[in-house]
Amino acid sequence: MKRKAEYLVVCAACGAQMPVLSPRPQCVCGGLLEARPRPSEGPRALRALFDQRRRSGDPRVEGSGVWRFRELILPGQGAVITHPEGNTPLYRRDAISAWVGLDDLSLKHEGENPTGSFKDRGMTVATTQAVRAGATAVACASTGNTSASMAAYAAQAGLPALVFVPAGKVAAGKLAQALAYGATTLLVNGDFDTCLRLVRETSEAFGVALLNSINPWRLEGQKTIVLEMLQQRLWNPPDWIVLPAGALGNTSAFGKALREARELGLISRVPRLASVQARGASPFYKSYRAGFKRRYRVHAETVATAISIGDPASHDRAVRAIRETRGVVTTVSDAEIMAAKAIVDGAGIGCEPASAAAVAGARQLVRKGVIRKGASVVAVLTGHLLKDPEAVMSFHDRRGRLRNPPVKIEPRLAEVERVLKRRL
Ligand code: F0G
Repeated sequence: MKRKAEYLVVCAACGAQMPVLSPRPQCVCGGLLEARPRPSEGPRALRALFDQRRRSGDPRVEGSGVWRFRELILPGQGAVITHPEGNTPLYRRDAISAWVGLDDLSLKHEGENPTGSFKDRGMTVATTQAVRAGATAVACASTGNTSASMAAYAAQAGLPALVFVPAGKVAAGKLAQALAYGATTLLVNGDFDTCLRLVRETSEAFGVALLNSINPWRLEGQKTIVLEMLQQRLWNPPDWIVLPAGALGNTSAFGKALREARELGLISRVPRLASVQARGASPFYKSYRAGFKRRYRVHAETVATAISIGDPASHDRAVRAIRETRGVVTTVSDAEIMAAKAIVDGAGIGCEPASAAAVAGARQLVRKGVIRKGASVVAVLTGHLLKDPEAVMSFHDRRGRLRNPPVKIEPRLAEVERVLKRRL
């Protein structure tokens, strides 16, 4: 008897079925590809399998917070390129909950992945699939985190990596990682959207595997942020999931994870998604306000360089995610982002500016009454504090209620005493 295929890959636009090991990231019609898992196990067996792997197993593969869910991510035989990754904590801090105005807020800290951002979850799957498809080199455009992650996984796989980043607009920690992990790093005179156009042309012209989130396997990996969070909550979904949004790969991945979890019977209720954009980079918010009747493109500019994107590639599938989850889209100012960051940092957790947009967005939605004070909310912190040291230093260099400027002194006890009197 022929076994049912464990996975299908189809074009989301025209419905054409594609080979699972397709080297192309897109359909000939221009549509984005979508992977569709078809596990043979039912919900009880799947949950038991995931829970058992979480408790024990080979720390390299089973212990990965991505590959533990492999029936829903990328089944099949063959080696996987894993760090491992995932297994990120769900933090609760009274000071942050009080500032946001919620009784039940937790923070899923994806900055605690191996390269310091959620990108590792998508990259372990996309790199594994690139190797299986016989790729000889990998490439991406990035605002910094994708390139840091791809460079690390390519190094592990022994593949040359080619990175396109907007010159002068990438945080120091991220650029340092791409260089350190050995990627050929191109500082492009242009913005992220220009970099994405150029890398797509490069991939077509020179046959280099494209690992941006238009690659369907990136989304498959990023679904595990939601799956792992549900598992940590013993499969009790929260009322809301709040996340920052740029290219909209993550919003799309979250929508897909929730749709599949519901269809497979892993959960019986779907949380609502809230996608938060920086006000200076909010094309998706504009589309949302227009009832998604048209797609907007803008020139992007924000302190949260990670989400400084004017033309999000995953727009259409993110629309589906918002619609299917009765979700909302909102924007927050750079000042709100940095205030939220100071609260998260000051609680001893820390995150990069883009991640703080989720916390600022949650506070705004509570204040507007969109999220009830009694709701259970998970906000996703997407990147680590140390990714963007300049943002921290320039914020704290000035005076202000949330600021903590460093104090220069002469090496004398009297000067220490003077500071102690003022600060303690
Ligand atoms: N948060 C951080 C820290 C990011 O790096 C990104 C995206 C996002 C949020 C938004 O996720 O694009 O899926 O909507 N960073 C990409 C990069 C663009 O190149 O590192 P998204």
